[in-house]
Amino acid sequence: MQIVKYQFQQHGDERGQLVALEEFNDIPFEIKRVYYMYDTAEGVIRGYHAHKSLKQILICIHGSCKILLDNGKGEKKKVFLEKPYEGLFVDNNMWREMYDFSPDAVLMCLASEVYNEEDYIRNYDDFLKFVNEESE
Ligand code: TYD
Repeated sequence: MQIVKYQFQQHGDERGQLVALEEFNDIPFEIKRVYYMYDTAEGVIRGYHAHKSLKQILICIHGSCKILLDNGKGEKKKVFLEKPYEGLFVDNNMWREMYDFSPDAVLMCLASEVYNEEDYIRNYDDFLKFVNEESE
């Protein structure tokens, strides 16, 4: 299982840093939705789901957090996000949990689809069934 992390170009000068993200150039899909999480309470784990077709890029634009990715085929990886110029690609059919948010963490998500509850798999056993049946 390959972890795909993007290092976005930083347009830095004496005034500070700026990162620009363009769909298909910096982001490998059409960006149909952007959302972000902040003020996450201590000890909270978010996510606990996979998507049937949606793809995402997660960027911790402030503070830090950890992401657990699980492909449902026995492979799990943990990724630490702490750079505003770094993006983690999360493919469809990938279980994710977000945890260890620093109090100041702002986790931004660029998504390839608008919000659609039908695309979610929220039960882990259903997820295992879904990914393992699909590849048979
Ligand atoms: P939720 O799916 O629980 O977030 P996560 O699983 O990533 O921790 O979403 C929290 C609430 O926000 C829930 O009521 C649904 C709503 N929501 C939207 O309305 N639009 C969105 O794009 C997202 C991601 C969530």
